[in-house]
Amino acid sequence: VINQNLSKISIDLASRSYSIDIAYNLKPLDVFIGNNNYKKIFIITDSNIANIHLEELLQSLHLLNLSSIIKLVVEPGETSKSFKVFQDLSEEIIANQPDRKSLVIAFGGGVVGDLSGFIASTMLRGIDFIQLPTTLLAMVDSSVGGKTAINSKIGKNLIGTFYQPKMVLCNLSYLKTLPKRQLINGYAEVLKYGLIEDLDFFYWLENNYTNIVESSKYSQANENLSFAVSKSCKIKAKIVVADEKEQNLRAVLNFGHSFAHILEQETGYSNLLLHGEAVAIGISLANRLAYRLKMIESEVVARVDRHLIDVGFVLNPYKIKPEWDIENLKNSIFLDKKNENQKLTFILLENIGKVKIVKNVNFEDFSCVIDDYFKGFLNN
Ligand SMILES: NC(=O)c1ccc[n+]([C@@H]2O[C@H](COP(=O)([O-])OP(=O)(O)OC[C@H]3O[C@@H](n4cnc5c(N)ncnc54)[C@H](O)[C@@H]3O)[C@@H](O)[C@H]2O)c1
Repeated sequence: VINQNLSKISIDLASRSYSIDIAYNLKPLDVFIGNNNYKKIFIITDSNIANIHLEELLQSLHLLNLSSIIKLVVEPGETSKSFKVFQDLSEEIIANQPDRKSLVIAFGGGVVGDLSGFIASTMLRGIDFIQLPTTLLAMVDSSVGGKTAINSKIGKNLIGTFYQPKMVLCNLSYLKTLPKRQLINGYAEVLKYGLIEDLDFFYWLENNYTNIVESSKYSQANENLSFAVSKSCKIKAKIVVADEKEQNLRAVLNFGHSFAHILEQETGYSNLLLHGEAVAIGISLANRLAYRLKMIESEVVARVDRHLIDVGFVLNPYKIKPEWDIENLKNSIFLDKKNENQKLTFILLENIGKVKIVKNVNFEDFSCVIDDYFKGFLNN
């Protein structure tokens, strides 16, 4: 089992094509690096991951007799997606004389992945990079699709590029050390794929989710985990290949996210509410809006809510923070450029597994959904 490569997913984007390997080891990475003649490797990671997993990665790379491996370790957390860290790391890489045969390995969660991809895309106008994700969220979402970013003072992910990696390796054994809250956080995106694209996958998740959010159930043989990661990557890959630069279809990946962003805005993108936790409430709110617009039955809303609660998501916003400025919350929907003149755009379900981009939603409908949701929990 040790050497087993569980699955390989191709992302077909002409000269930017690459594959995602899902395995319980680093073998696919060794093979890739062995086949390419890289002179210098820059590993970007954060200190949490460096403490637990860096030694093993270095050992594996040393076996390949590479002359030069440079480690760059940042602080864990969103604050590392900054101009300052981008500048410091870029200067450090330049001081090590990179050339076109240099490689960046993004070794971490979405923070490290977004930052490293952005650095690789701008370094010497673009050097190769590999995604080696260590969180569930990064494996199923941020490593796939080529969006890179750092944050501006004014908003998240406002400075970035579309830049595809040369390979992605989801080494599932990393997830054993990921805290449960982070596993659940990543699960929100897994569930999203089922809801937008695949009814059977949603049914499967209802029966098998504990194998994904409970790392005590992880083992070399957790086929459910590898199935869920591979299914998620396949769905994302299909959508990205159809619309690499988000002209249109790729927007469906934002299901639940418009609501999530306004909640995150109100909690200051802090640890009070992680992104996936906000997406879970966002999914519940989007379904209520779809119900109000007569797109889905109330049973669908209830069934998805039931699953979110089973998994361990907190749907009651007052358990996240005791007071909410509801007016502010509603108005921040206009921070999204799609939404102007009281007419809003949302990604909504027509059924489980089928999604639609709905334009010209009245602010009134959106507003009622938010009011009813918050009132429902106040009375509890
Ligand atoms: N590019 C995209 O398409 C895309 C998509 C979704 C999210 N994102 C971005 O991803 C970021 C969030 O990513 P994330 O949720 O992975 O957060 P993260 O990178 O901050 O990682 C979460 C925490 O887990 C720790 N950690 C990581 N791997 C670990 C492991 N194996 N064992 C123990 N601890 C570990 C990290 O040090 C960190 O403290 C956000 O900045 C978001 O904007 C990007």
